[in-house]
Amino acid sequence: MDRHRSLRMTLLLAAGAAGCSSAKSRDIAVVTLAEPQATADDAGAADDPEAPGPRPQRSAGWVQEADGTVHRASPARCDATIAQRACAGTERSLQCRTDADCTEGPRGKCVSSFGQIGPYCGCEYACETDAECGPSEVCVCKGTGALREEHSVCAKALCAVDADCPGSTCGLSAYFNGCWEQVALACRTKDDACQSDADCAPDANPGVACVVPDIEGESARWECAGISCAIGRPLVVEGAPRAAQRAARDDWRAPAELDVASLPPEVRERAAAHYAAVAALEHASIASFARFSLQLLALGAPAALVGEAHRAALDELEHARLAYDIASRLAGRAIGPGPLLEAAAAPLGAGIAEVVEALVEEGCVGETLGAAEGRELSRIAADPALAAALARIAADEERHAALSWRALSWMLATFGEPARAAAERAFSRAAARFAVDPAPGLLAHEALGLLPAAALGALRREVLAEVVAPCRAALPGLSRDNAPAAPSSSPRGASA
Ligand SMILES: [Fe+2]
Ligand SMILES: [Fe+2]
Repeated sequence: MDRHRSLRMTLLLAAGAAGCSSAKSRDIAVVTLAEPQATADDAGAADDPEAPGPRPQRSAGWVQEADGTVHRASPARCDATIAQRACAGTERSLQCRTDADCTEGPRGKCVSSFGQIGPYCGCEYACETDAECGPSEVCVCKGTGALREEHSVCAKALCAVDADCPGSTCGLSAYFNGCWEQVALACRTKDDACQSDADCAPDANPGVACVVPDIEGESARWECAGISCAIGRPLVVEGAPRAAQRAARDDWRAPAELDVASLPPEVRERAAAHYAAVAALEHASIASFARFSLQLLALGAPAALVGEAHRAALDELEHARLAYDIASRLAGRAIGPGPLLEAAAAPLGAGIAEVVEALVEEGCVGETLGAAEGRELSRIAADPALAAALARIAADEERHAALSWRALSWMLATFGEPARAAAERAFSRAAARFAVDPAPGLLAHEALGLLPAAALGALRREVLAEVVAPCRAALPGLSRDNAPAAPSSSPRGASA
């Protein structure tokens, strides 16, 4: 059954071509890990009273401090059990059939996962000691600190133990960016922006933690980071999506009369955190579309595109109100947005390459995935009011995706090669980004519209292959090779 046919046909018409068949070609995303860095920065810090804490401990193995930070005093032997059920071979999607197919990491196991889109087999990898991991990696045991993985995992390591960080510690960073978990070890230094999660005001910023978000960068350091990978049209400023902090207010709510009384308190609280984060991103999308409409004006776009961009901003306002209301009902208290200061600081960025790259990643890919996910979530949501709210959002996102494809078609026809090259770059980045499953969320609860991570990852790849790739191929000058790599577990060190 071709369940994405309707979405594909809508977007093909928007892109200016109908009747293309679905694409099945695939890109392979390669995650390259850098060599370990020296820790010379920290030399002499042992004698420095201002050196960042915690001070090295004489303990062994993984050490958790009172402030929640975790560091590694010495190598530890981990339980390498992968408890997930083995692939039966009868699942709908088989990325592996037996453990012998799982060769990209240690102790590969071909496991079976289930989601609303059907049963699915993929590889998982675990480790017992560092020796089983790559040369720049260490083995992080299940349950260590904030690690979400359900088994031990090899992680990128700029240090292996505290002794590698003179005067400081070798900390464990488990950063969930909204799509997947990045696990890494790095020394804490005086250059760090934070020492623990408490420095990041986690109560006001759900999901924000003190982590090393760019372990591959030249200046990897500890800083506060939250969701940076989101579906839909984010407000990106200086390379990172921005959103307002939570505020206790009642004037950003559109009634979504879902029944929450029967849900256990812990489920309600976790689902509330999820929908509050969704609401903040929808709220930021208003600013993103406002900026997009200015970019369209700056580029001399047709009136129809400018008008659609303005209407889309109003749609996003309603999405934010619906999501804040759902979050408020689940939490049992009023949740709304605080000031979005970045809305005033966001540069226009009206160069054609800049506009096209953002349009492709956030619109042609992000909004298309958002539309498909919204449809799926509205289908599985048990509460009629929640299902109706999600269906409304999905219908709007489909219109926004169509706007994106129409705008891209116009930009390619108007600006030629610079626009084409920018689009190719952005499609390639998007394919790599969705090649791995997202990390397990706070809660997988299909009745509340929260898909399990493996199901979400598989759905996204399906939509990239069956909707995005043919729409891309329908545009003159663009290649059609936009399907993501096969569904897989996370690359070692960056868990799925
Ligand atoms: Fe939206
Ligand atoms: Fe949207």
